Amino acid sequence: MSDAVTPFQAPIGTHDVLGASSAEWEGLIATFAQYAYRFGFELVITPMFEDVGVFNRGIGEQSEMATKEMYVFTDRGNRTHALRPEGTAPVVRAFIQHSPTTPWKAWYFTPAFRYERPQKGRYRQHHQFGVEVLGTDDPAVDVEVIALAHRFYEAIGLTRFRLLINSMGDALCRAAYVELLRAHLAANVDRLSDEHKNTWRKNPLRVLDCKDANCIAVTSEGPMLIDSLCPECREHLDHVIAGLSSIGIESQLDPRLVRGFDYYTRTTFEFVSDALDSAQNAIGGGGRYDGLAEQLGGKPTSGIGFGSGIERLLLVREAEGVEPRNLVNRSLDIFVIDTTGEDAATALVDELRRGGLATDRAYDNRSMKAQMKVADKSGARFALLIGPAELATGEVTMRDLRSDNFEQAQRKVARGDVALVVAELLTKS
Ligand code: HAM
Repeated sequence: MSDAVTPFQAPIGTHDVLGASSAEWEGLIATFAQYAYRFGFELVITPMFEDVGVFNRGIGEQSEMATKEMYVFTDRGNRTHALRPEGTAPVVRAFIQHSPTTPWKAWYFTPAFRYERPQKGRYRQHHQFGVEVLGTDDPAVDVEVIALAHRFYEAIGLTRFRLLINSMGDALCRAAYVELLRAHLAANVDRLSDEHKNTWRKNPLRVLDCKDANCIAVTSEGPMLIDSLCPECREHLDHVIAGLSSIGIESQLDPRLVRGFDYYTRTTFEFVSDALDSAQNAIGGGGRYDGLAEQLGGKPTSGIGFGSGIERLLLVREAEGVEPRNLVNRSLDIFVIDTTGEDAATALVDELRRGGLATDRAYDNRSMKAQMKVADKSGARFALLIGPAELATGEVTMRDLRSDNFEQAQRKVARGDVALVVAELLTKS
């Protein structure tokens, strides 16, 4: 049935993953898991929904996320929950709840839900790889987190990406800067975009992120946070940039880089791809959030991490013309055909699978010809046929599905020897 006539479709801004693209997803997830493991991270899984307060902490600047983009619902127990719009706050909530040994290095792969206007590269449900490190403010950890993202992008074949870096300062130097910026915006309010004419007072930092030419003109004449950093924050940033450079990772200082969450302190960064339209060209981003644990009711604990959208990574790979790679090997070793209608196939596939062979079979007791067609399509290396004659003699017929020579392609093997014979042939082929 074509999509056009199905009564139900995936909701706007969401998508199904199947077929060839699911093999790419599997490959990317496996590669990320491998890199996270190499860098010493453990997998963390937290619930898909949380108390809304985990995301909407109601202090300081309010991010777009907290104000309008969350999927919020009240459950039957009258609790207000939100589907997670991002991965960081839930991980910090879990850290406070379980007090793992620090530094705690956790990675995740998760859907995230944001009620945004869908467009290419921007969805209402997207999926993120991410890592978080809690319990250290050593700039070496900033370097490591950024390096993990960078090495992963290289591993999946990306070449046209850049690392932008900035510092959001700490609670003190940033607050002083925000006042300077507010004063500058107040003096230039008439020149701001309509949106920011209304919101600059509450969210002055967001004006720095605005793509409107008038806002850019106003902010570029104004103060920059980089010039207001306290010596400790400036030193931290310099350390991170130098550390990255020492392992061959170049970064571009971008004083306009402010990210979409209110929790960031000190190091913030974004990886952008020059292969994508500039509107949605961030393939990953993150930073420090040294005050977040406290905001969530925990002890003061430094933290840093990043998130990277898998859909964007796939778009970039396509735009860069990267051959699908890092694919998980899904090819079948064996396809079992059984025309006896007994349990022979069930027993054989179980034995082969337990022996480590990727095995599939036909169902519905269809004709030999129909089952053979499925076997040919399956991509399996060998077909194993069980008909009444084979059942009677305790054998199976083994057929090499890649051979054109019918005589040589087919031979009988004793049922008890099948697993061994097939395994030997596969190692040779
Ligand atoms: P974020 O920048 O909002 O950060 O999202 C991380 C990445 O997810 C983006 O760079 C982008 O690749 C992808 N992404 C975000 N929104 C969408 C969307 N609507 N559709 C498709 N892809 C999207 C965070 O979420 C932070 N939690 C990152 C972090 C971790 N900071 C510290 N630790």
